[in-house]
Amino acid sequence: MLAGRPGRSGRMPGFMKVCKPPANWVFLPLMDAKKAPPSVVLGVAGGIACYKSVELVRLLVQHGFAVRVVMTREAAEFVTPLTFQTLSGRPVATEIFSLTQESEIGHINLADQADVFVIAPATANLIGKIAGGIADDLLTTVVMATQAPVLLAPSMNVHMYENPILQENIRKLRRVGYHVMEPADGYLACGYEGKGRLPEPEQIVEEIRRLLKKKDLAGEKLLITAGPNHEPLDPVRYLGSRSSGKMGYALAQVGLRRGAEVTLVSGPTTLPLPQGAKVVRVGTAAEMRAAVLKEFPQATVVLMAAAVADYRPERIAPHKLKKTETTIHLTLKPNADILKELGAKKNGRMLIGFAAETEELVANAKKKLREKNLDIIVANNVAEEGSGFERDTNIATLLDRTGSVQPLPLMTKEELADRIYDLLLSLKNTKERSAV
Ligand code: CTP
Repeated sequence: MLAGRPGRSGRMPGFMKVCKPPANWVFLPLMDAKKAPPSVVLGVAGGIACYKSVELVRLLVQHGFAVRVVMTREAAEFVTPLTFQTLSGRPVATEIFSLTQESEIGHINLADQADVFVIAPATANLIGKIAGGIADDLLTTVVMATQAPVLLAPSMNVHMYENPILQENIRKLRRVGYHVMEPADGYLACGYEGKGRLPEPEQIVEEIRRLLKKKDLAGEKLLITAGPNHEPLDPVRYLGSRSSGKMGYALAQVGLRRGAEVTLVSGPTTLPLPQGAKVVRVGTAAEMRAAVLKEFPQATVVLMAAAVADYRPERIAPHKLKKTETTIHLTLKPNADILKELGAKKNGRMLIGFAAETEELVANAKKKLREKNLDIIVANNVAEEGSGFERDTNIATLLDRTGSVQPLPLMTKEELADRIYDLLLSLKNTKERSAV
């Protein structure tokens, strides 16, 4: 039996019935649990990068998308439909003139049920066909019939990618509203090095999430700080904190998805950079302050998620400190409070601070909100299980300048970023309404 679209049909997703996910999979909450999961129709064209589309399906399912795969005949030469069917938990469509497939799935039904239509890999041939308005197989027919946003992830030999006909086809597709990703640079299966690799599945998932988000932060210029500071003691050692930067990076990622321009001033982290953000890397608190003050005039909103170092060593030894038998005494000097400085000259900008506390959460956060002249403060008890440094989740309380205190349950840092932006927009709307 054909699995219905979860939520719309009211039935259990076919995936749940067909096979159980491995026990070690973490399902990342992507959307409101009561809403139907967004539906991705994934078109797979015949290129060697098909094997990466398998990983893409796995990631999409893990992120909570309902995935339906449409393959060209050529794609089925590289990877069998059974592989995609097993991972997506849904029948795979390959043939337009198949009586069984057409009656069970139907090409117009496929086109209609997509919230996003993704083609990965998109070969030169397929791009040419779509740009030329040709619909001579199932995949090209469904793409032509869909009204969902279409995202193409090209993959081909570097010379094919540079071919002016292919480039003209891509320009044409972009002109009429198709989204075409840039292929990655690197080693190609044909033996060449260059541009033509399929973008990594994680990047494709991120593009899909961006296409699905409402662009309610369009026009906002977010200045976000993230991560720790490293305050050097000598050429090899520093004082630092356990901050991973995950909250600031989540704010950047979600801000970009919601249509904002993002400048990320990042302390030392090992996190992948959010695609589309302007990133300024810094080490010390003084460097962070300089970068923030430089970017501040252009910003409409500042989110200080960085764990700014409050102190630095008074003296940085020019050479590595040698080991001795005696106790070492360090003298620390205070660093400037960046957020307090911004609060004194905010001039209509929205300022959002973070309060990492281990006791008296609300009282301490309220004090910081007032003293630093903030609009919102995100308070969290870093000692609490599920909260704080180095984690993907947080348990926060949102406090704002109107006096409201909103304790939130355990959620991912990306979900928390969404809640912070929701509050920011509602404060902005109230401000604009009262100004009228
Ligand atoms: N902050 C800042 N500059 C500093 C210290 C903190 O801009 N030198 C910012 C942080 O980025 C955060 C907010 O101020 O958004 C609160 O930081 P937190 O470390 O919780 O508080 P502090 O003001 O440093 O006070 P304390 O350490 O005593 O709790």
